[in-house]
Amino acid sequence: MADLATRAPGSVRITGWGMYAPPDVLTNADLEQLVDTSDAWIVERTGIRERHIARPEESTATMAAIAGRRALAVAGLEPDELDLIVVPTLTADHRTPSAASLVKEGLGSTRAAAVDIGAACSGFPYGYALAHGFVAAGLGRHVLVVAAETLSRFTDFTDRGTCVLLGDGAGAVVLSASDEPGGGLLGLELTDEPEGAYSIWQPAGGSRFPLTPAGIAAGEQFWHMDGRDTYRHATRQMAATARAALERARIGPDEVSLFIPHQANLRIIETVAKQLDLPMERVFVNIDRYGNTSAASVPLALAEAVAGGRVRIGDKLCLLAFGAGFTSGALVLEWTADPARDTLAGSVDPTD
Ligand code: ACO
Repeated sequence: MADLATRAPGSVRITGWGMYAPPDVLTNADLEQLVDTSDAWIVERTGIRERHIARPEESTATMAAIAGRRALAVAGLEPDELDLIVVPTLTADHRTPSAASLVKEGLGSTRAAAVDIGAACSGFPYGYALAHGFVAAGLGRHVLVVAAETLSRFTDFTDRGTCVLLGDGAGAVVLSASDEPGGGLLGLELTDEPEGAYSIWQPAGGSRFPLTPAGIAAGEQFWHMDGRDTYRHATRQMAATARAALERARIGPDEVSLFIPHQANLRIIETVAKQLDLPMERVFVNIDRYGNTSAASVPLALAEAVAGGRVRIGDKLCLLAFGAGFTSGALVLEWTADPARDTLAGSVDPTD
């Protein structure tokens, strides 16, 4: 780790971004073969058409390392220049060691500290806050925040209430100390409402209910969800969290160029946009192609939005997440990086 002398007088900015989705795709038609569901029901109730599923040889850490390598290429950094690697995830490769430790190894980074963040689908804003604070405090100059999930390994593919929702993938940003003032994080809000703790949960495998053959036979290793309760809380909590972050940034929703919400359900996204008076043209949606990738959803969407020409220098972005806990988080950012740097990552073999 760098010493405190690295503290920058300027700001903390995103200098790199990247995403990865595994090549295998599971369509709604495929799910019709597994459970009693239909493409029409899934599209109407969720907006999801397909999702990416990790191959057997892939894991949360391998996908995170690919997204991370792409983000480093955009930032023009070597893995050894990283001071910290933060991995928001609820599907780490193992209970221990951390996914971040394995990502560090996968990247070939020697100096960085490494830590996972457990805030479910809200993990990215939580991880971003940690990374921002680390750099702003002068504890290091460059931090990789790479959120990744292999939800398919914890999904009960006989439960139609959950298996149609999820996908696997990874999204990353690099935060760097900048000598230029301004830009970067303008406003932040993080919340946690523990009364929702058991509305989305994975009963067994922790210290309270260790994995047993009987538990496995009962499907307790899979995640379980009260969909209606989650839906109700999401539509209430997300807009309030976004408003609080916007207030801290001293801007109104009308000044946000692009709103990048957690992709859990298109109906939730549309409801929150309406509550914030945002036309859907200023809301980024890719749930149709990825489903809900939990913590990876927001940075994956951000990387796609930049690659797709939806983000320009000077734009104000609002990134908003909601998930198990219930947790939520919103970031208001001023974008300062040249989106054209993205093309540099295209020339990098992500699996090197
Ligand atoms: N196909 C067909 N029918 C279905 C399916 C399906 N895949 N799933 C549920 N149904 C049925 C139900 O059984 C129910 O039938 P019934 O009326 O005969 O009992 C009917 O459809 C309506 O069920 P609801 O649960 O009321 O459906 P709803 O419109 O609420 O949609 C959904 C369900 C999509 C899960 C919604 O509640 C939702 O999106 N909730 C939020 C999910 C979320 O945000 N999760 C985030 C966390 S995920 C994580 O942390 C990894």
